[in-house]
Amino acid sequence: MEIIVLNEVDSTNTALKEMLRDGTASAGAVVYSENQKSGYGRRGRFWHSEKGKNIAVSLALQPFKGDDLISLATGVAVLQSLYDEYGIHFSLKWPNDILYKGKKVCGISCEKIATANGQVIVLGIGINVNNTVFPEGMSDTATSIHLALRDYAPKESEITLRGLLDNLLDSIFHWHDRLSSGFTDEVLSAVKTACINIGQPVRIVNEGVTVAEGIAEGIDADGGIIVITDNNTPKKFHSGEISLR
Ligand code: BTN
Repeated sequence: MEIIVLNEVDSTNTALKEMLRDGTASAGAVVYSENQKSGYGRRGRFWHSEKGKNIAVSLALQPFKGDDLISLATGVAVLQSLYDEYGIHFSLKWPNDILYKGKKVCGISCEKIATANGQVIVLGIGINVNNTVFPEGMSDTATSIHLALRDYAPKESEITLRGLLDNLLDSIFHWHDRLSSGFTDEVLSAVKTACINIGQPVRIVNEGVTVAEGIAEGIDADGGIIVITDNNTPKKFHSGEISLR
């Protein structure tokens, strides 16, 4: 696998999308930077990265039958790789936040873009790795692997970003292979096991407005979350429209 390493970049997602559109990259390409200056997250929100402290990586994938689950499968891949590496159970919050004790360690974005050679999936993964401080307003909601490790056992060693990246990509491609080979049930079952929302009360919020409340019952093969609302009706929600509280 060829990893395109950029010393500095506005956004690995934007850089990869440009390369896909101008034909200098194709499905299978991976763009990585340890100095992302203006990354973005879901719904165009700013994604904070700190030079040399974070992983910012984007992957181009060929669309396939069943690819609706790809960002959730990537969440499972990240969890598994972090558990294998550090022995810490991080949690997956639907649709694609990785948390430690309720604070965000990793975010995953997923877009499908049109190129001259057809559609391509662009997966973006941002991980707070060695951060010890966050900008004003973020410290209540964000944490890093380093801080999570320190919580387990006090130690000051910095994590090697490239080592973590290699394990992470292996895990992501493993779960991608399972999904694209048709093992949807296996992936879905791993997603449901990992997802902390299942069986829990959830509030479905669209642009700040609560649109439904209930108990999250499951996740469908199209990645939607099924919520049993107060009048006992199951309703399905998709990540494009809503967030969970
Ligand atoms: C989210 O939680 O909203 C998703 C965040 C995704 C951030 C990553 S960092 C690497 C890639 N480049 C970007 O500009 N965004 C994604």
